[in-house]
Amino acid sequence: MCGIIGYVGSKNSVPYIIDGLKKLEYRGYDSAGISILQDGKLVTVRAVGKVAELEKAALLENPQGTSGIGHTRWATHGKPSEENSHPHTDCSGEIVVVHNGIIENYLVLRAKLESLGHRFKSETDTEVIAHLIEENLKHVRNGSKEVCLLKAIQKTNKEISGAFAYGVLWAQTPGILIGVKNQSPMVVGIGKGENFLASDVPAFLKHTNKVLFLEDGEIVLIHAKEVKVLDKDGKEKKIKTTKIDWDQQKAEKGGYEHFMLKEIYDQPQAIEDTLRTARTDFGKILGLDTIGLRHLKEVHIIACGTAYHAGLVGKYYIEQFAGIPVSVDLASEYKYRTVPHHQGTLAVAISQSGETADTIGAIKKAKELGFRTLAICNVLGSTLTRICDSTFFTHCGPEISVASTKAFTSQITGLYALAISLGNANGNISQSVFEKLYKELMRLSKAMSESVKMEYDVRHLTRKIYKADRFIFLGRNVNFPIALEGALKLKEVSYRSAEGFAAGEIKHGPISIIDKNTPVFMLMPQDSLFEKMLSACQECRARGAFVVAITTEGGVAEAKKVAHKVIIVPQVNDFLQPILNVVPLQFLAYWIAKRLDCNIDQPRNLAKSVTVE
Ligand code: M6R
Repeated sequence: MCGIIGYVGSKNSVPYIIDGLKKLEYRGYDSAGISILQDGKLVTVRAVGKVAELEKAALLENPQGTSGIGHTRWATHGKPSEENSHPHTDCSGEIVVVHNGIIENYLVLRAKLESLGHRFKSETDTEVIAHLIEENLKHVRNGSKEVCLLKAIQKTNKEISGAFAYGVLWAQTPGILIGVKNQSPMVVGIGKGENFLASDVPAFLKHTNKVLFLEDGEIVLIHAKEVKVLDKDGKEKKIKTTKIDWDQQKAEKGGYEHFMLKEIYDQPQAIEDTLRTARTDFGKILGLDTIGLRHLKEVHIIACGTAYHAGLVGKYYIEQFAGIPVSVDLASEYKYRTVPHHQGTLAVAISQSGETADTIGAIKKAKELGFRTLAICNVLGSTLTRICDSTFFTHCGPEISVASTKAFTSQITGLYALAISLGNANGNISQSVFEKLYKELMRLSKAMSESVKMEYDVRHLTRKIYKADRFIFLGRNVNFPIALEGALKLKEVSYRSAEGFAAGEIKHGPISIIDKNTPVFMLMPQDSLFEKMLSACQECRARGAFVVAITTEGGVAEAKKVAHKVIIVPQVNDFLQPILNVVPLQFLAYWIAKRLDCNIDQPRNLAKSVTVE
């Protein structure tokens, strides 16, 4: 995630761009920058931190110009710093680029461009775009400057791979802004005598509600009074605009009422983005240390809250695929217990924010004990990533809602990739098994797109049960942590009492709290433990519980015999199944909280990032 805004019109573009960036801060906020075309020259101002910092810097510099671009960054390549902030320029300083997405082959391209004499100023993947355009411009001579720029951009798009939406200004083509979209969002706002390019509608909604949504592979040429779109074959396309009737607040949430709901729906994309570079990332992380890996004796997973639940799922993965014993600790406990010192221990800290004090304290202890450390984290440059020896980044973009949803499923996705990579590296699984497991993993995002379609079913169900005093969640094996997560989510946002248990445990005590009408959610995909879950359904039903079965297609007929309501999730392999099974529980928490009129995105007593012990 990152936010892009561009303006071409007749007024000074700076206030439009700064204001647009503020509206896009939900997409990233570790640094920001603008480039304005002033008297034939590009003036760039950048600052680390929120857009307010950029605004102060821009006031001092005071650039003026009727076309400009801006960017608010959520770091993926290169720490948050002024040099890594966008816009990025070519060697001449005449081309500026703002970009959202990941250029997967940037290292190869950078090496090639450096050998041709290009000088890079940042660590980002984005900068290769500016230099590639510069390089390609050298080879297109026929046509106007605008045509040359367009051809250079078309050639650049053929050379880069990954997800990208970017905007370009060239000092030699004043009054023209070019946008490119491929698998990252980009929209155009059509105004009167002024037009906008942005990652999302709220950036310009104050000025126009006439929006042109671009398709993947398209290029847009924006002038103050004209907008042209070229399709993926380079042919001019008829423009079709849409009138948006959202208010500003709703628009920032992508049209959803709350960030939590938006973030649940972000999950297919979040998984896709997390997996985009996972194979190479783990290849690099583990490749650094192949000798140590062969001697890896144990893994300690450390995390808090939802991230801890992801870690519990990770234990099943690593033990299954890599054959290495795993302990999972709440970070606040790990720090204060006696941890025997063993050679060959890898400590894995999981954290969305990378700023959780308990997790940081625990990983520091692991370091002191001489363990190698790996962070699974969503925020580049965060404290945790600076402490750990290496980091795997979940690329799910900023998570704004206090209740974690997309970070959770991205963390488990990352843990699965880690487990099979470890297993492959230490010989516990063969190359062909690894390839098969990876293939299944790469299909997960599509299955997640199907899963989020169940909102209506869950929403409907909550009408019946939202006033219950207590909710129970049961699962076994990889689905046990999902039961814990379902309960945590519901508690956090709806303040209802909720508990999750391993289904086999209820007869050892917890069944005593189940009474007439207690809603009990059974995580029971059709796997080797399905029969046992059917028995647990019977046991709860016999105590008067309202039983909801979350199962896969193959389990529906049997589940219907014992449950009052059946929710169907798409079937994937048994180990990936928990990543989909949690989705109905996220919707459940959301809709119960909504019906109870709770403050969903900022529940009472909670903070997004707990930076104190
Ligand atoms: O930023 P972190 O992942 O380290 O945060 C850990 C927990 O504080 C966090 O998961 C918390 O439990 C969430 N509010 C859960 O929704």
